[in-house]
Amino acid sequence: DPYATVSLVGPSRNDQKKTKVKKKTSNPQFNETFYFEVTRSSSYTKKSQFQVEEEDIEKLEVRVDLWNNGNLVQDVFLGEIKVPVKVLRNDSFQAWYLLQPRENGNKSSKTDDLGSLRLNICYTEDCVLPSEYYASLRNLLLKSSDVQPISASAAYILSEVCRDKYDAVLPLVRLLLHHHKLVPFVAAVAELDLKDTQEANTVFRGNSLATRCVDEMMKIVGKHYLKVTLKPVIDEVGKNHRNENLRYYVDKVFREIVRSSISCPTLMCDVFYSLRHLAAKRFPNDPHVQYSAVSSFVFLRFFAVAVVSPHTFHLRPHHPDAQTSRTLTLISKAIQTLGSWGSLTKSKLSSFKETFMCEFFKAFQEEKFTESVKKFLDDVSSTESKEPSGLSEPVHLKEGEMYKRAQGRTRIGKKNFKKRWFCLTSREFTYHKQQDKEPIFTIPIKNILAVEKLDESSFNKKNMFQILHGEKPLYIQANNCVEASEWIEALCRVTRCNQKRLSFYHPSAFLNGNWLCCKATLENTVGCARCTADVPADTQIEIDGDRETERIYSLFTINMSKLQKLEEACGSIAVYQGPRKEPDDYSNFTIEDSVATFHTLKQIIDIVEKLNESHEKYRKKRSSSAKYGSE
Ligand SMILES: *[C@@H]1O[C@H](CO)[C@@H](O)[C@H](O)[C@H]1NC(C)=O
Ligand SMILES: *[C@@H]1O[C@H](CO)[C@@H](O)[C@H](O)[C@H]1NC(C)=O
Ligand SMILES: *[C@@H]1O[C@H](CO)[C@@H](O)[C@H](O)[C@H]1NC(C)=O
Ligand SMILES: *[C@@H]1O[C@H](CO)[C@@H](O)[C@H](O)[C@H]1NC(C)=O
Ligand SMILES: *[C@@H]1O[C@H](CO)[C@@H](O)[C@H](O)[C@H]1NC(C)=O
Ligand SMILES: *[C@@H]1O[C@H](CO)[C@@H](O)[C@H](O)[C@H]1NC(C)=O
Repeated sequence: DPYATVSLVGPSRNDQKKTKVKKKTSNPQFNETFYFEVTRSSSYTKKSQFQVEEEDIEKLEVRVDLWNNGNLVQDVFLGEIKVPVKVLRNDSFQAWYLLQPRENGNKSSKTDDLGSLRLNICYTEDCVLPSEYYASLRNLLLKSSDVQPISASAAYILSEVCRDKYDAVLPLVRLLLHHHKLVPFVAAVAELDLKDTQEANTVFRGNSLATRCVDEMMKIVGKHYLKVTLKPVIDEVGKNHRNENLRYYVDKVFREIVRSSISCPTLMCDVFYSLRHLAAKRFPNDPHVQYSAVSSFVFLRFFAVAVVSPHTFHLRPHHPDAQTSRTLTLISKAIQTLGSWGSLTKSKLSSFKETFMCEFFKAFQEEKFTESVKKFLDDVSSTESKEPSGLSEPVHLKEGEMYKRAQGRTRIGKKNFKKRWFCLTSREFTYHKQQDKEPIFTIPIKNILAVEKLDESSFNKKNMFQILHGEKPLYIQANNCVEASEWIEALCRVTRCNQKRLSFYHPSAFLNGNWLCCKATLENTVGCARCTADVPADTQIEIDGDRETERIYSLFTINMSKLQKLEEACGSIAVYQGPRKEPDDYSNFTIEDSVATFHTLKQIIDIVEKLNESHEKYRKKRSSSAKYGSE
């Protein structure tokens, strides 16, 4: 029953991953792929976990340990292979490696006794230049969503020239995410995807650029959401090893999901919102499509996938064992059924072998389930349903000092601050003169555009925050810093899917004719700081825009010949208006607008050639500055 652990081992890190256990064989074929990402610390902030110093890269090695799964007894070590990363630097390696005994302990096992393992190891090294070198490529990629038609944009062309679209999608999504450009790009490519979709019940079911971008985005920004929603149940399944509680687990997973909308990241809500509207526009006569467009992602491509393979979403460190895996698969199927929106036909149901399973899944198509699924889908795509969601219980702030500028008044003194009582429900934020008295002012939740801290310097008061809602901001001072944070969090949660939310705000107040923060003198000047709720902060920190741009540059470089062929094809169509060339190397790329595509291709090629020169210069400099006698 062998399995292998695959690790990247270095002086300061050790990432370990595991293959599945192959039952009853001494000739296993694991056929699994593992990715390890290493970055230089200089291009990262201190917080990143992927930090490695240059000299550490020299010391890194890939280690594969083979084990026999002992089930109830201890696992037995079968042998290991170590490959230093530095020998991989030149190329990718596919070879048979002899398994070695453990280094420590001098057990006299002959090496050829241990057998061998075939590995394919690929090492890609990107040399990231200083930021300014990437400005033009970055700008070209970031304006992709504004290009008409979208197929003439640099980002779209990138996905076309890479044979394996996945290569392109990862750096592209990270880059767009980092620069707050993902939503419009996804909307533009989704529209293209929908154009090719003939039937409403197949929306977003295939693998297109749009669906892959959303998948990748959900993996990046949905990590925390999944963790708070599903990790406890999945851990419980892993502990119990039996699936007789299937119904119980499915109910639990279902309950957790449908009440989780409040934790759904803003970015996911924004993407779902636009996909829903695009799908409804494409199929105006289908009342269900607006739901299936969202459920294709959140149920089928997010929750259902995370349940079957929790390790790919970092919910569990490794593959679940066989028994757990079976239970998780059944739970995942139930989630798919729930998310399938009645498109699951009788024939599909009867394909479940065991009839009791068929009955079981049918139970989830009852109305009470579909109603709560519908409400959940409304919530995560920020469309108002009958029952607004949000807080299950109103939140009360006992006391707070509040200042709301009267229209036209310019001077603010101490007496403008008054003690007020606040209450937040899922519909509105109110404040009251006295506890339990009628509110003196109400802000509907849907009108709130941002909730942010307020610099202490504004009024020389600590623990202040501001609610921006179209009219003059409402400034509130909480009793202490804990309460201030709790209020900001609660308010952000209920408002995170509001449309027209602000991207920028002023961290200080507008006093005596200027904003204290940026000194702008017009009161309606756009904010000078980015709102915090936009993209999760940890995501922002982990993404290095230059590194991703370098990756994209490499992809263009490797496939320069494809770019040139495409350029040629566009040129001949534009000039001769002749018949389109036979699609050969540029595969299925349809040139929608040859002039616009030609223009973009030319820019890409110019930029890539310039960057190539910079890289060549750097390489020369590095090799000439190497010290005599050094490696
Ligand atoms: C391994 O994966 C390749 C490509 O995904 C597939 O063609 C092949 O059949 C797989 N082999 C086994 C033993 O699963
Ligand atoms: C890598 O390439 C360099 C020259 O480009 C060569 O000197 C070196 O031996 C190669 N290393 C390996 C492990 O093949
Ligand atoms: C292993 O063998 C080496 C030399 O043969 C010896 O120096 C070392 O002490 C041995 N280690 C153990 C744990 O027996
Ligand atoms: C780039 O083109 C080459 C040759 O046409 C091909 O082998 C390679 O797979 C392509 N690379 C990508 C990332 O698609
Ligand atoms: C990059 O520059 C080198 C040296 O000038 C050249 O050989 C290579 O073809 C260039 N590659 C691309 C993609 O332009
Ligand atoms: C082009 O499209 C056809 C059918 O749509 C598909 O079978 C083929 O694999 C595609 N070719 C490439 C290179 O993507």
